[in-house]
Amino acid sequence: MNYPNFSSDCKSLLCKHLTKEIFEELKDKKSRYGYTLNRLIKSGLENPDSSIGVYVGDEESYEIFAPLLNPIIQEYHNFTNNHKSDMDPNHLDITNPDPNGEFILSTRIRVGRNLHCFPLGPNIAQRERLIVECMVSDALKSLDGELKGRYYPLLGMDKETQNRLIKDHFLFKEGDRFLESAGLNKEWPEGRGIFHNSNKTFLVWINEEDQLRIISMQKGGDIKEVFSRLSKAVKELEKSLKFAFSQRLGYITSCPTNLGTAMRASVHIKLPKLGKDMQKFQSITQKYDLQIRGVDGEHSQSKDYIYDISNRRRLGITEVEAVKQMTDGVQALIEAEKSL
Ligand code: ADP
Ligand code: ARG
Repeated sequence: MNYPNFSSDCKSLLCKHLTKEIFEELKDKKSRYGYTLNRLIKSGLENPDSSIGVYVGDEESYEIFAPLLNPIIQEYHNFTNNHKSDMDPNHLDITNPDPNGEFILSTRIRVGRNLHCFPLGPNIAQRERLIVECMVSDALKSLDGELKGRYYPLLGMDKETQNRLIKDHFLFKEGDRFLESAGLNKEWPEGRGIFHNSNKTFLVWINEEDQLRIISMQKGGDIKEVFSRLSKAVKELEKSLKFAFSQRLGYITSCPTNLGTAMRASVHIKLPKLGKDMQKFQSITQKYDLQIRGVDGEHSQSKDYIYDISNRRRLGITEVEAVKQMTDGVQALIEAEKSL
């Protein structure tokens, strides 16, 4: 493998941080599970419009390829060391930023998790993926009360049901080209699926970008209730599943943007006036370190001035702090919208 030919307009953190020296240092390294530099950077090379450009195949690769990954992690999270966690909803001092329901359509908070002792999705074998699906769907059977639900494998799900779940924002999309290049879509749809309770306020995606995406969501802006449900669910699942975790990087995920809390707390919010003044809009999101996504998730466009607003940073910040920062930012956006 030769040093890649990055185009001059490449903006990914991969092309920024993969110097010739680092390339030479890492090009022949391999993790115990067989992950290589070639595979680490494949998605970024095949998708030159990537913003990050790497997917990690196992926990050990975060150490082996640290000369490339640490600067990427540092730049994305502004932090590289010693994850701190706090998922106690009693520590979350917030109120609903939109008590009259004028702006916030829904709130969703998810965390990514992967199982200890397994390679991550980009490097998992077909049989191992099925074992993960079996272990996670079994663990989910033990949940009761509000969290009780059923697992729906993607294999065998009719297209109409699948498309409706996607359209209603409950299920992951299919055919993401970044994941495809990283090997995360291999043997699709086998081993993938969604668990949810009857009113779809608690959901778990199995074997998408991470082995678990644990999700709490509901209509409106009661962010604290959504966080409390998530916190309870994670605690329950930790009784039967051991998640990959390191003191330095927090929860281990296949994309370095998700390390640490692995949490993305978002609202769908309608902001027609700010939507026409993107400079003002972005000055607020930058101040609170928030990310703006489209209404159908990452890499989608906003429709009817509805935006997905979430915390950008996940490592070096606790879960409670991330949710608080998102809530404060949303409050500021609502105030700005009202003032226009
Ligand atoms: P992830 O959140 O897991 O990083 P995406 O950005 O692709 O991945 O979002 C996944 C799905 O969740 C999409 O359908 C998206 O529209 C939906 N979603 C995200 N935030 C909210 C929200 N606050 N309310 C309702 N749906 C949401
Ligand atoms: N690999 C894509 C890129 O570099 C997405 C990165 C962040 N998003 C994610 N879902 N991991 O642009």
